[in-house]
Amino acid sequence: MKKTMITGLLLSASMLALSAPAFAEELKVYISSQHQPQVWRQVLDKYEAANPGTKVTIETGGNTSEAQAQYLNTIMSAKDSSLDVLILDVIRPAQFAAAGWTSPFEGKDMSVYLPAYAEANTVDGKVVALPAFADSMFLYYRKDLLEKYGIQPPKTWDELKAAVKKINGGENNADLQGLSFQGKAIEGAVCTFLLPYWSQGKSLVQNGKLTFDKDAAVKSLKLWKSFVDEGVSKKNIAEVATDDTRKEFQAGNVVFAVNWSYAWAQSQGKDSAVVGKVGVTRLPAMTGGDQATCLGGWEWGVSAYSKNQDAAKKLVQFLSSPESSKFMAINGSLLPTYASLYQDADVVKAAPWFADAKQVVETAKPRPVTPRYNEVSETIRTTVNAVLAGVMTPEDGATQIESRLKRILR
Ligand code: GLC
Repeated sequence: MKKTMITGLLLSASMLALSAPAFAEELKVYISSQHQPQVWRQVLDKYEAANPGTKVTIETGGNTSEAQAQYLNTIMSAKDSSLDVLILDVIRPAQFAAAGWTSPFEGKDMSVYLPAYAEANTVDGKVVALPAFADSMFLYYRKDLLEKYGIQPPKTWDELKAAVKKINGGENNADLQGLSFQGKAIEGAVCTFLLPYWSQGKSLVQNGKLTFDKDAAVKSLKLWKSFVDEGVSKKNIAEVATDDTRKEFQAGNVVFAVNWSYAWAQSQGKDSAVVGKVGVTRLPAMTGGDQATCLGGWEWGVSAYSKNQDAAKKLVQFLSSPESSKFMAINGSLLPTYASLYQDADVVKAAPWFADAKQVVETAKPRPVTPRYNEVSETIRTTVNAVLAGVMTPEDGATQIESRLKRILR
């Protein structure tokens, strides 16, 4: 009798456990696989610990910005409610807001963030997403090799070529590439084109109007092609995406690399052949021009189709907090969105060059802001790729960019 009672009790207890939801709230966060979901996981673990009853899972996808955007476009066009929180490249909040895909944040004070991100996330006076991390393109270099040959970090692309020739002459290592950059037809190749273009003092779009300078565009495309033709970059550079550059530099096979901040953490990690041998500085300029870089960064949006609006917004506030920004700076080398963190002792210990990086982010140039950015991007990146693959001349490339952008930005 007693035994039956106990069994009965146990049974009903386990039935209860089965029927009651394990968590009051479950949220799904979409993170691009390039941006260290495993480190963001640790931030989410902290959130779960502080908010018992909330479970957050990660969905990853898209190792490049445009692959990720393509995926999200499909999900959002279908009004799919399975994703609550989305990480978005800095070029996308305007498009997502225009499509009605993100829910605005009411009463959020954006002045706490670096101004570029307050601006990128405010569309028609509404805050449409909150900053995840800041970003810019930098020149990574092998400190040990530059020191060995008595070379200062180059300030112009010509100086970089000269440095590579000197190092290659001495090292005599056929596997050592002079410069790795992004020539694949990915979003990053838009920045590849713009870096030397901007460096000549030219703009691409102003007040929504095309301000294309063909001569500067030809020079930009010629510069990148010359790296291939002169053997500074490898022949298949037209197949190289951002994370390929990160991997080959980290393996010790590259002297100079154009990359974003995330590449630092892994270059100093356990799988790296270049721990303690890496310097990071501003990107070189065209001779006679100014050093210029591309503004990057990612933002947290709440899906307009999420069924957990309040919980998702609460989580985004946490993901965008100084505490999370600091954690990601230290553990993932993602640049902070809060000015004061660039001087933070723990941050500077993990990434000493962050101490000088705020100025770079603050003077970085944004890619054109237009609801038709996808077409602008596609035009530029496919042309850069065709020139580097040798199927189009720099002159024809510049003509193609000009005529297509004229139609898009009419
Ligand atoms: C980085 C930047 C992002 C940029 C992308 C291009 O992730 O943060 O803004 O669009 O690289 O590859």
